[in-house]
Amino acid sequence: MENKQGAMNRLAITTGCLILIVAYLFTGCTVPRTRPLAEVVEMPTEDLQAGRIMFNNKCGSCHPGGRSAVGPSIINKPLPKFLVRWQIRHGAGVMPAFDEAVLTDEEVAQIADYVAYLRKQAKRSESES
Ligand code: HEC
Repeated sequence: MENKQGAMNRLAITTGCLILIVAYLFTGCTVPRTRPLAEVVEMPTEDLQAGRIMFNNKCGSCHPGGRSAVGPSIINKPLPKFLVRWQIRHGAGVMPAFDEAVLTDEEVAQIADYVAYLRKQAKRSESES
């Protein structure tokens, strides 16, 4: 009788510990995971990947994901790449100009390509829904 009770107590303690360990592991895994996942986005080419990173750094605060915020949406209309490049170099109103010291011609082209890519993606998800 005494022994059975002891075994039951040990079982209860072991189960309790296991639940705590599993709960700890789950919170340990889920919390830090959210951040890297947001950054890891597969892009079809390295140029687009570079464009995406620069866009998020230089343009994303005002055109998040190409959509409107401080600036207008730049993915809801057919903006030719040369106009996007011109806009980056010259700015307009609140939008600053980005000169060669900040972005090279190649980087400007990569950003313009990425904007065109975003617009294509937006159009695709629009036609799917
Ligand atoms: C400080 C906020 C801000 C930043 C940063 C910014 N923009 Fe803008 N953008 C604006 C605003 C505001 C306008 C509208 C300007 C106007 O015509 O008065 C605009 C307009 C544009 C337009 C023209 C949209 C149209 O309808 O003709 C393009 C293209 C554009 N931005 C691209 C970019 C790109 C690419 C970057 C990054 C290199 C960038 N912007 C960074 C605020 C910003």
